Amino acid sequence: MEVRNNPWIMSFVIFFCFSFNSHVSLGADTISANSSVSGDQTIVSAGKVFELGFFKPGNSSSKYYIGMWYYKDRVSEQTIVWVANRETPVSDRFSSELKISGGNLVLFNESKIQIWSTNLSSSRSNSVEAVLGDDGNLVLRDGSNPSVSPLWQSFDFPSDTWLPGATVGLNKITKRNTRLISWKSKEDPAPGLFSLELDPNQSRYLIFWNRSLWYWSSGTWNGQIFSGVPEMRLNYIYNFSYVSNDNESYFTYSVYNKTITSRFVMDYGGQIQQKSWLDSVNQWFLFWSQPKTQCEVYGYCGAFGICNEKSQPFCNCLKGFNPKSREDWDSEVFSGGCERATNLQCGNSSVVNGKSDRFFPSDNVKLPANPQTVAARSAQECESTCLSNCSCAAYAYNGSQCSAWFGHLLNMEQLADDTSGTTIYIRLAASEFSSSKSNKGVVIGGVVGSVVIVSLLGLVLFVFLRRRRTVKMGKAVEGSLMAFGYRDLQNATKNFSEKLGGGGFGSVFKGVLPDTSVIAVKKLEGISQGEKQFRSEVSTIGTVQHVNLVRLRGFCSEGAKKLLVYDYMPNGSLDSHLFYEKDSKVLDWKTRYNIALGTARGLTYLHEKCRDCIIHCDIKPENILLDAEFCPKVADFGLAKLVGRDFSRVLTTMRGTRGYLAPEWISGVAITAKADVYSYGMMLFEVVSGRRNSEQSEDGKVKFFPSYVASQINQDHGDILSLLDHRLEGNADLEELTRTCKVACWCIQDDETQRPSMGQVVQILEGVVNVTAPPTPRSLQVFLDSQENIIFFTEASSTQSSQTQSHTSTASSQTKSNTSNTSSKS
Ligand SMILES: *[C@@H]1O[C@H](CO)[C@@H](O)[C@H](O)[C@H]1NC(C)=O
Ligand SMILES: *[C@@H]1O[C@H](CO)[C@@H](O)[C@H](O)[C@H]1NC(C)=O
Ligand SMILES: *[C@@H]1O[C@H](CO)[C@@H](O)[C@H](O)[C@H]1NC(C)=O
Ligand SMILES: *[C@@H]1O[C@H](CO)[C@@H](O)[C@H](O)[C@H]1NC(C)=O
Ligand SMILES: *[C@@H]1O[C@H](CO)[C@@H](O)[C@H](O)[C@H]1NC(C)=O
Ligand SMILES: *[C@@H]1O[C@H](CO)[C@@H](O)[C@H](O)[C@H]1NC(C)=O
Ligand SMILES: *[C@@H]1O[C@H](CO)[C@@H](O)[C@H](O)[C@H]1NC(C)=O
Ligand SMILES: *[C@@H]1O[C@H](CO)[C@@H](O)[C@H](O)[C@H]1NC(C)=O
Ligand SMILES: *[C@@H]1O[C@H](CO)[C@@H](O)[C@H](O)[C@H]1NC(C)=O
Ligand SMILES: *[C@@H]1O[C@H](CO)[C@@H](O)[C@H](O)[C@H]1NC(C)=O
Ligand SMILES: *[C@@H]1O[C@H](CO)[C@@H](O)[C@H](O)[C@H]1NC(C)=O
Ligand SMILES: *[C@@H]1O[C@H](CO)[C@@H](O)[C@H](O)[C@H]1NC(C)=O
Repeated sequence: MEVRNNPWIMSFVIFFCFSFNSHVSLGADTISANSSVSGDQTIVSAGKVFELGFFKPGNSSSKYYIGMWYYKDRVSEQTIVWVANRETPVSDRFSSELKISGGNLVLFNESKIQIWSTNLSSSRSNSVEAVLGDDGNLVLRDGSNPSVSPLWQSFDFPSDTWLPGATVGLNKITKRNTRLISWKSKEDPAPGLFSLELDPNQSRYLIFWNRSLWYWSSGTWNGQIFSGVPEMRLNYIYNFSYVSNDNESYFTYSVYNKTITSRFVMDYGGQIQQKSWLDSVNQWFLFWSQPKTQCEVYGYCGAFGICNEKSQPFCNCLKGFNPKSREDWDSEVFSGGCERATNLQCGNSSVVNGKSDRFFPSDNVKLPANPQTVAARSAQECESTCLSNCSCAAYAYNGSQCSAWFGHLLNMEQLADDTSGTTIYIRLAASEFSSSKSNKGVVIGGVVGSVVIVSLLGLVLFVFLRRRRTVKMGKAVEGSLMAFGYRDLQNATKNFSEKLGGGGFGSVFKGVLPDTSVIAVKKLEGISQGEKQFRSEVSTIGTVQHVNLVRLRGFCSEGAKKLLVYDYMPNGSLDSHLFYEKDSKVLDWKTRYNIALGTARGLTYLHEKCRDCIIHCDIKPENILLDAEFCPKVADFGLAKLVGRDFSRVLTTMRGTRGYLAPEWISGVAITAKADVYSYGMMLFEVVSGRRNSEQSEDGKVKFFPSYVASQINQDHGDILSLLDHRLEGNADLEELTRTCKVACWCIQDDETQRPSMGQVVQILEGVVNVTAPPTPRSLQVFLDSQENIIFFTEASSTQSSQTQSHTSTASSQTKSNTSNTSSKS
């Protein structure tokens, strides 16, 4: 499952952008008996990495907490990594004080009352001091004997952030579970509902809802990676290690390259996230997060809420329900859930006869948690059983089994129309029905109904014709581009009702212009540019025209409303043909090859042929659209520039992108066109296999396709056809297939200078230039060398994998000398 559109992440990133207060450093890293922290005073670690003092989360609150953040020379956005008094803020930081008292580090509030303490019982001498380390660990120790193990350390009491060097696990002696607990909301550091904890029974992490029920598992540790996190094998950023003995079990990690500032966060939305600071753009870069989609977070929308991956915000209340707290809902805290708009009549003795509760069907849903099976042999019986018990909130009948829900409904999801979700019947007061059908209480009979429909049609037609006149008046400006009014696009898209998809830049809707041409309208999000600059960027994009690029037809710019209008592509995006079998036919090899070639041509044009080189930055199957003849068109190019410096923030919203991102994105070095080449290579593997590159099979084992390809093509007798999508039953041109696999491996080299240019890729695919055997990329190599039991992608037998295993390392060392051959052409 991939998320293509995630405005929610965006808001998360923004949250950390509040500016620094003017803190006054005490010029020390230590709080000792004769010093304290109060007001704007702070302490800073010796190497100026972390700072500790009072902070205020967000703008609106007037509450202050003792927290730790990166020193501003390291990370220019104040980023809180630890909070002491999560639940007991102070309002006047100048009369509050953090100091050593009775052998403990203690926070006193305005009334000099202790509101937070390290809570050590042993009353040590007054030589106790608290030292802030460069690793972000606040250590309480005996100042007269600093070398012995700490009396207390903040690493044992993390908030939502896991810093390198810290441990998250279990102390078997004290039974204390060190866990990451999310903030309650983006502006409230109090412990929220979600926590990351070590499973006490296995070497794996779990994310819990309300400390009681887990909804995500990392899969067990196999010595190299967590089995449920296949993408880890591409990750040579972190060095994870697992320690388990009689006293404790935990994981810890370090960052291979010490210059990288990186952290894990248990986010308030229920996802665990991995972020690195990019100095070049002054932004946190979200590199990884799990669970992949927001709706997989258990109970995210609260009681009687329903999650929808495609709506914004993700949560809505069920029909007949309203948010319990509008304020929470507005600040994206949905866990409070919804309440009935109208009380049920069931159990209310004063209700007049004839009016009892009724059931409202809700289609295509993932059913709520905790159903109870009820004996019933028909849908009617199922309904009446539920109706007869006032605490029965909903039922569902699947043809043989009646399920009912008592109390509240939690963890529901609205599924896409084309998936086979279930229908649930939700109990509502009867009055909820009459009010929605007719506002004057008139029962609409067949005749009246059709009259209404006919007159509605007439109205629509009328409005449509009126609009048509307006659209005709739209002037052609900025070269060939059409300037549209917002109302025109609103009408063309039936008020943005038919969503085609989303992306880092905004959602896309289908529309029809009065001249009957079909369009795709992209509602841009997060554009901060001025009018003039926007128009000039848009007109630049308008001049970029190529048969393999989606054509921009026009735009709309009315204040904050910025939209782009594109040609509509009837065959949708490549991912829908590759990965979802449903109703689309399997793409044959010729078509796939042409898509690979066409995409490469489109990218070549972007990189080399147009006036300013355009780096796409987000190549993936979702961004390759197909016209009626399955000719590929690259979408979404040039938009990075439109959003200007906020670019990396936009990238963080593209969560589907992870698997396609070149390693240089994380190291913070300048991004060149070769980053697109990498993503293109990753996509080629998927074009060949018809599946996502990394998948977890039912038995929990992890498969990573590029590793398998790299090993097969480096063998003398590698089974190239086994790489092909098995649905094609071997129907492919073997030479084209080999070429494609080789070029894909070249494209994903870690060192960008070893990757071919897109122009070279075109020549290779056209057969003009030969391609030599590629070396196995380092990131794959590390994995192949060390893994005892490689699990391969194909359904094929185990003989194949053992054969591969023994060949891998020799094969790749043989080919190392060939590295530069692809670039030997002009
Ligand atoms: C805080 O306030 C500033 C200026 O008033 C505003 O630009 C910024 O978006 C606000 N930040 C949050 C997180 O609300
Ligand atoms: C605090 O006390 C320590 C030793 O007890 C001393 O070295 C230091 O100078 C004192 N600091 C201040 C600010 O008085
Ligand atoms: C200080 O904390 C105590 C105990 O929590 C509380 O009763 C008191 O109101 C607080 N003082 C102020 C000024 O908030
Ligand atoms: C310290 O102990 C008090 C009372 O037992 C408790 O309320 C508080 O949460 C503890 N503080 C910490 C930091 O563990
Ligand atoms: C761990 O094992 C215990 C005892 O078998 C069980 O009660 C508990 O639910 C298990 N924990 C998890 C997270 O599976
Ligand atoms: C979480 O669990 C506690 C009891 O452990 C319960 O009181 C609370 O209502 C639960 N929270 C939610 C949101 O269900
Ligand atoms: C990874 O961490 C372990 C344990 O901290 C250490 O022994 C090992 O040398 C590290 N590996 C690398 C390559 O840094
Ligand atoms: C466990 O703790 C005991 C007592 O603290 C200590 O003697 C022993 O060495 C520890 N074992 C390990 C494996 O660290
Ligand atoms: C570490 O990363 C920096 C850029 O952040 C890079 O310049 C440097 O070469 C890297 N060091 C190693 C050993 O990879
Ligand atoms: C019971 O019904 C009466 C009349 O419809 C209504 O006024 C009253 O609020 C209801 N009581 C409850 C507890 O819902
Ligand atoms: C309604 O169903 C619940 C759950 O099955 C049960 O506990 C309760 O006793 C039932 N109430 C009535 C009135 O039957
Ligand atoms: C209905 O659900 C039950 C339990 O989930 C399942 O065993 C049964 O096969 C389902 N029946 C149909 C017709 O889907």
